[in-house]
Amino acid sequence: MPGRMEERRRIAELRAGERVDLCLVVARKTLQPFRDPARGTYLALWLTDDTGGMPARMWEGAESAAACIEVERPLRVVGLVESYRDTLQLNLERVEPVPEGAWRPEDFLPVSPREPEAVAAELEVLCRSVQDPYLARLLEMLFARPGFRQAYLRAPAAKVIHHAYLGGLADHSLEVVRLALTAAELYPAVDRDLLCCGALLHDVGKLEEYRYDWVIDYTDRGRLLGHTVLGYELIAGLLSGINGFPRERGQRLLHLILSHHGEPSWGAPVVPQTLEAAVVAHADLLSGRTRQFHQILNASRDTGQSWTPYDRTLERYLYVGEPGNRGREGA
Ligand SMILES: [Fe+2]
Ligand SMILES: [Fe+2]
Repeated sequence: MPGRMEERRRIAELRAGERVDLCLVVARKTLQPFRDPARGTYLALWLTDDTGGMPARMWEGAESAAACIEVERPLRVVGLVESYRDTLQLNLERVEPVPEGAWRPEDFLPVSPREPEAVAAELEVLCRSVQDPYLARLLEMLFARPGFRQAYLRAPAAKVIHHAYLGGLADHSLEVVRLALTAAELYPAVDRDLLCCGALLHDVGKLEEYRYDWVIDYTDRGRLLGHTVLGYELIAGLLSGINGFPRERGQRLLHLILSHHGEPSWGAPVVPQTLEAAVVAHADLLSGRTRQFHQILNASRDTGQSWTPYDRTLERYLYVGEPGNRGREGA
């Protein structure tokens, strides 16, 4: 069995000309026809680990290799890293199934930089800080559901753009709570409990929107309905089961969930129309954007370039700075 976690090579470190014998996750598998039909098919894989993904090709024995490769499971791959059209590709010589239980999903997925105990403790403190008895009851019921707390702490917040790692949903949600509560100190008219509860739950639909076993990807329900609607559905269902939950308060909470993307063009079915919804929508954007900037800048820090490549989602280049004057790492 190739090297364990600590000493194993990562995709981001591989260089052309390097021979590898390591375990990676098969994210996609296809058999492609050669241009010359007489040659049959070759195997095309997309392999991933916690640092990224790369294509792999197997030219000989593709069909028998494909038959023993399971998608979204780890696979032992032996071959040579080559450069093809300026991108690295693994030329496979041999693949081998990996015994069940030899690896854990977190060996191949990026994980939160925060200590899980610290995140769980912060979540607990915030839930307990909600004084309103109905909102407190709602949080209590939700986190008492079997598996809910673990899922909330483990789920990613995205597939790629920001907080796209195990624990990302909790990191992002707690960031949004902290940003929103900071705003509440400046604007005392804001309902602090509604804000805290709404910020904690604004993305709760992501628990159903993503699956994150070996690879992070959308579920069918996630792709079809989206986390805004899934979150609305979950919370609306719980509210109807809490005796005497004040109707207007429930509506304000549901409105906050439905409007948290701020604009219809960003996926919000309604725009924010309450103070708390406006604060959460801005805090959500601030948390996501700031992380995205960090991520893009960090990826370009060691390239020797003053500017990042053009980012299509942000529709701009970001300024990395002159070499030797590039600000702080991390966060
Ligand atoms: Fe969201
Ligand atoms: Fe969010």
